[in-house]
Amino acid sequence: MAELVLKADAAGDLTINRHIYGHFAEHLGRCIYDGMWVGEDSDIPNIRGWRKDIVDALIEIRVPNIRWPGGCFAEEYHWRDGVGPREERPKYFDEPNTVGTAEFMDLCEILDTQAYLCGNLAGGTTQEIVDWLDYIRGAGDTPMANLRRSHGRNEPWDRVKFWCFGNESMECGGMMTAEYFAEHFRHIASNVGGVAKVACGPNHENYVWTEKVMRIAGDMMDGLAMHYYTIIGPWANKGDAVDFDAYEWGRTMAKVWYTEELVREHDYIMSRYDPDKRVGLVVDEWGTWFNRPDDASLCWQQNTLRDALVTGTTFNIFQNHCDRVSMANIAQLVNILQALILTEPGDGRMVLTPTYHVFNMYKVHHDATFIPTRLTSEDYTFETHDGGTARLPAINTSASRDADGTIHLSICNVDPDRAHTVSCALQGATVKTVCGTILTDDAMNAHNTYDDPTRLTPSEFSGATLDGDTLTIAMPAKSVVTLALT
Ligand code: AHR
Repeated sequence: MAELVLKADAAGDLTINRHIYGHFAEHLGRCIYDGMWVGEDSDIPNIRGWRKDIVDALIEIRVPNIRWPGGCFAEEYHWRDGVGPREERPKYFDEPNTVGTAEFMDLCEILDTQAYLCGNLAGGTTQEIVDWLDYIRGAGDTPMANLRRSHGRNEPWDRVKFWCFGNESMECGGMMTAEYFAEHFRHIASNVGGVAKVACGPNHENYVWTEKVMRIAGDMMDGLAMHYYTIIGPWANKGDAVDFDAYEWGRTMAKVWYTEELVREHDYIMSRYDPDKRVGLVVDEWGTWFNRPDDASLCWQQNTLRDALVTGTTFNIFQNHCDRVSMANIAQLVNILQALILTEPGDGRMVLTPTYHVFNMYKVHHDATFIPTRLTSEDYTFETHDGGTARLPAINTSASRDADGTIHLSICNVDPDRAHTVSCALQGATVKTVCGTILTDDAMNAHNTYDDPTRLTPSEFSGATLDGDTLTIAMPAKSVVTLALT
């Protein structure tokens, strides 16, 4: 039995930032073109070019922000290629520049979300970024604001809250050293105002990068970006997204659980230079990365119950570290890596993935007050390929209280074979009713398809029983549960 203490009486004023539930839409594969964007003339119902069924699904989960246009793509993107009359925009190979600043800002307005733009540090200039910002939000009589007006948009767009300076600057973003990047960031940051400035941070456990960038430029930034993908094999064989065995399930759970250590260690280093935690850790690329099927577009992969457990576990980790993790962006929204939505090229079919459903279940935590918990879990063990045994906690959880006073408790059981019971002591909360939602299936690789789009959908959970100030939760094997306690 797992022992959980929900310390409602110890909740302070720490908030779970809704921007932890952010997204990423890169000009890559079929994310934008033949994915979210079909164009105004398409037979597929759309709102000014954006697929209506996707827009409706995204409104449902209350998307707080979208990172755009990349990724590595941002490091070769020049914003002037994507403004003005579409027929005059330059085309490069598979990038027609049909979707540019105006189209993306329009999507942000449709979804009532914030833009998290990523500027080009590898091949662009500081002036290019300054001009882009003025094009977007300039209200005065300036050349860039006037250029925007000449393109038909009089009012500035009030949508750009975050700006990411450098994407993987140690790799695709310019092969920079940490020292060079940090000095460069200081220069750019001193030229830009009015947005939260996020500096390129480490890829997974690059602690040296975090140390150097925080030491040199920590005082100039609002966020430090970290990228961490759940990858279970060597790059040449990352495993199949659907056809996997118990070992690959276990390895996936161990790899996603490693996020906890990464967040804790980077937080520790950041705290040397920022003990008050003013600078947020922004995990602006996370998620699973499996092999792409031969017949699929770039970075396309199916999404199973395994991905749902990765999502719930990741959010539990982020929420339990919400004093440092201020924002995060899953990679990516549509048809790329751990996508929330899959579409079929050229026709109107789409499916919501298990990952989408966990975003929907967890939206109750947006901007809610963090409630600390103490958890002692039984282990989930699995055999490794070399005959050894690996172990990690079977259960992970997080909790919050929303503006109406309802307590929300989210629980994952990553053990694919065994049900686990959680005994939860409610400390400092008088609870009279419990209701819940569950996402689970008998098969580890259960997933939604165009022919069976609702196989994995959340259903009512009746496995929680209340006895005074003790809540007993019967967690089926491989399940994600959210409970509302009132
Ligand atoms: O998300 C796909 C790619 O992965 C991004 O472009 C890049 O930043 C990362 O390496």
